[in-house]
This record gives sequence, C-alpha cells and structure tokens, in this order.
Amino acid sequence: MTPVRKPAREGAGSAFAPSRRSAVAPFVAMDVMRAALEAEAAGQLVIHMEVGQPGAPAPKPVLAAAAEAVRDGRLGYTEALGLRALRARIARHYADAYGVEVDARRVAVTTGSSAGFNLAFLAAFDAGDRVALAAPGYPAYRNILSALGLEVVEVPTTMETRHAITPEMLARVHAATPLAGLLVASPANPSGTMMTPAALGALVGAAEGMGIRFVSDEIYHGLVYEGAAETALHFSDSAIVVNSFSKYYCMTGWRIGWLVLPEDLARPVERLAQSLYISPPDLSQRAAIAAFDAREELEAVKAGYAANRALLLDRLPALGFEDHFPVDGAFYVYASVRRFANDSSAFAGRMLAEAGVAATPGVDFDRERGHGFMRFSFAGRHEDMVEAAERLARWLI
Ligand SMILES: Cc1ncc(COP(=O)(O)O)c(C=O)c1O
Repeated sequence: MTPVRKPAREGAGSAFAPSRRSAVAPFVAMDVMRAALEAEAAGQLVIHMEVGQPGAPAPKPVLAAAAEAVRDGRLGYTEALGLRALRARIARHYADAYGVEVDARRVAVTTGSSAGFNLAFLAAFDAGDRVALAAPGYPAYRNILSALGLEVVEVPTTMETRHAITPEMLARVHAATPLAGLLVASPANPSGTMMTPAALGALVGAAEGMGIRFVSDEIYHGLVYEGAAETALHFSDSAIVVNSFSKYYCMTGWRIGWLVLPEDLARPVERLAQSLYISPPDLSQRAAIAAFDAREELEAVKAGYAANRALLLDRLPALGFEDHFPVDGAFYVYASVRRFANDSSAFAGRMLAEAGVAATPGVDFDRERGHGFMRFSFAGRHEDMVEAAERLARWLI
C-alpha cells in the first residue's frame, strides 16, 4: 500500500512539517519554569515567581481522600462529565458561595480548567469565529483559540477602565470585527484587577444583547483581597463559567477543574469530552470532593498570600518596579521594568541567571506593550518572597 503523505508546506524544510495550527506562541511562563528547573539541576538556587502555583500542598482532607482512594485500589474511567458526587458538590458550592442555584447536570468536571477551555471553545464556537479578550491577559487563551482555528481579537485595556473591557469598548470592537465570543477573567491574570459586580453584570448584559457568548474564567475566585468576586452565573444562564481546583484549592498538579454550562451545551461538551479525554482523572476527582471542606486551611494559605502581597507591594516599587497594576485578587504583581530595561524577556533571563529569581516577562501577556513589564507570582512561601526581595535588592542596587 502506498503511504499517504501530507503535502509539504510552503517554506517547510521537510515533507512532514509540523501543522500550521501548531505554530502557536510559546507560553513563556512555562519556558521560564523550564529554564529555572535547568538552572536548579545545574546547582543554582532559584526562587520561583514565574508560574502561578501555590507553594502550599493540597489541603489535608484532599490528601486523606486521595490516600483512601489509592488504598481502595481501583482507579478507573468515570463518566465523561465527571463523578456525580463531585458535580453535585460543585453545584452546591454555587448555592453556598454565591446564592445561585445550579443544576448539577450543567457541571462538567475537566482535566484542569485548561481542558475546560478546549471543551468550551469547541462546543460554543466554530472555526473562524472571533473571540475577544483583554490585553494584557492569560497567554494560553489566545494560543488555545488559535490552535482551534478561532480568530483572537485582543482588546488593549488601560488603567482608565481598571484594565477591564467595558460595554462601550465591546460595542466598538464588535462593530469593526463582529464577535462570536468574549472571554473575561476577574480577578485577572496578570493584572490581578477585579471587576465590580455591577461592571461584570453590565458587560455580560451588553455582550448577550449583541449576540456575543460570554465566557467567564473564575479561576481566581476565593483569592480576593478587596471586595468579593461575583459569578457570571448571577447574570446569565447562557454564560459559560470556567473554574479550577488549581489556585484557591492549591491543586495545580492534580489537573482538575470544572465548567458550568448553559443547559444546551452540556450534551455537546459530554460528546466532545468522551472522545477528547474519556474522563478526568478518577483519583483527582475523588480527592477534590473534599476540597470544599477545607475552608479554614485554605483561608490560612490565603492569609499567607496577603502577607506576600503586602511585602511585594512595599518592596518592588521601592526597588524601581513602578506602575504596578492594582492587585485586587489572584497572586501576581504586574509591574514596569522600564527603569531597568525595555526588553522584559532579556531582563528576565538576566534576573534568573544573575539574581536567581525567576519571573515572567510581560510579553507573555501583552505582545504590544509587555516589553516594559514583568509578572511576579507571590503564591510561594513567605520566606521565599523575603529572599527574592533581598536578592533583587542586592542585584539592582
Ligand atoms: C487565568 C487562568 N486561567 C486558567 C489557568 C489554567 O489553570 P488550570 O489548567 O491549572 O486549571 C491559569 C493558570 O495559570 C490562569 O492563570
């Protein structure tokens, strides 16, 4: 039989060139993490501020539930949308935390929110559809969207709107380039800024009035230092909510998250999930059920972030990292490095090599204006934050 060969791509060196859709930008934070781990393997002591991952382990009830599941022995596939007990527990969380009734049949458990994005985008949009998002913003949004053949419309934000997209901005963008979707994170990464409930409600209403599907990334809910975050579900049954156990619940490595879907998307997501992932990991699901019972422990972890936040908001500006965005929530300080450099990537490389502090250059989040910014994650241990500030002081002064 003659093998079927993919036609060579224009300009490609080999007949078996990578696909065009794989030509997404790197997720720079992950590249910095790789470089930091390489430096550590070579004997350097590195403080990790490059990736948004809690320094604390998963809470004790989660570890106990996981140990019990392992003792039990058999870990299998689950239903594609997840264990019913976990879906029900997530649905209950919406009643407890926000006073919003959610039918458990609308909940899909996913392999991290990252898999949730794939499922949500595939279920809600067609190839070629346009989806708007704020710049600066989380880089994987645009990389996932473009790998799936969607067009990303980046909307530059400024401090004038507290780095949020407003209904007026959305209307202007939609008039110029008609949109199928709008993706919003509040609190946001890298800025940490949060929309007020009124601003969020107005934006959800405006988007839906224009026929634009609202996707709400609520992964930093629970990690708010000023005010409280509202869920988009409070304003709409058509919005897609994405969330995760990675951040507040300290479970990055367990790769477990969830979606709350409009009723008519639950079955399409189930069909896609059956074939893309079969099911989320059984072990992580059984453990995650216990995460909602660990509030006290998790609030103590959050108090640690608040102390880190206070430290860095004092030390970083004093060291010359100016114009930081307001850190309402999440665990990042996004600040200017223009005092030192106008190429944040080169600056990050030097900072890692010479000071042993890993942080992520702003170009990961904002390709136009990120050259002058750096994102520092303060999700790590307090003693590491103190050490990072000291290392930076020695290096810069
Ligand atoms: C805004 C935002 N959304 C989603 C994710 C993905 O998280 P996970 O796949 O671990 O749930 C991250 C991770 O940093 C994030 O910052």
